[in-house]
Amino acid sequence: MEKQIYPFIDKKITDYCEKIASKESEDLQFIDRQTHLRCVKPQMVSGNWQGTFFKILSHILKPHNVLEVGTFTGYATLCLAAGLAKNGIIHTIEADEEKEDFLRNMFGNNSLNNRIVLHIGNALDIIPEIEGDFDLIFIDADKISYPEYYELCRKKLRKGGVLLADNVLWYGKVALTTQPADKQTQAIKRFNELVQADETFENVIIPIRDGLMLAVKL
Ligand SMILES: C[S@@+](CC[C@H](N)C(=O)[O-])C[C@H]1O[C@@H](n2cnc3c(N)ncnc32)[C@H](O)[C@@H]1O
Repeated sequence: MEKQIYPFIDKKITDYCEKIASKESEDLQFIDRQTHLRCVKPQMVSGNWQGTFFKILSHILKPHNVLEVGTFTGYATLCLAAGLAKNGIIHTIEADEEKEDFLRNMFGNNSLNNRIVLHIGNALDIIPEIEGDFDLIFIDADKISYPEYYELCRKKLRKGGVLLADNVLWYGKVALTTQPADKQTQAIKRFNELVQADETFENVIIPIRDGLMLAVKL
């Protein structure tokens, strides 16, 4: 039997949501296939359900300046870039040097190539070096650092800018785990609480896959 990844949503329902989202482009199908062939944890790829949500958001916002923290195989990068304004740019940061060749080749063969700036290194060092103001920021790297990413990213977001963060339900553990929670669960709970307590943000968790934080800077 196929494993149910997100225990709080019936797999038949998540499969249905994947199926009913707009058809996945050939570029994204290629990334998804390569991710499953090459990567140890392929489930980290955003996939068509979440990716379509990103594309829609990007088309609505028409952002000039986007930041993604945690590139992995570039699936969400292409989705977030789908609605970029003319001359818009997306910066994306990946710590794993072994992903670099794949990413540069894959982006190199894509029409969005000259709009994507790939940074290889630790996002905690790189974010402060990239010039803001961002219209859209997506946090999706190591979960332990989410509270630090929040502090760095909130300063880089312009007023009216949108903050997204993946895995904020952390397989349901943020709500279901009895104390003491593991370090990653604690960090994600902390992140969620920081965003919620910040009066400069309006925020909501959207239960797509492992939970997406969606917040706008007022
Ligand atoms: C969940 S995956 C990203 C998935 C991708 N955003 C998508 O939606 O398809 C997380 C990625 O963050 C990277 N990562 C982990 N810690 C990092 C750090 N400190 N700086 C930059 N990238 C990091 C990992 O190597 C991994 O590729």
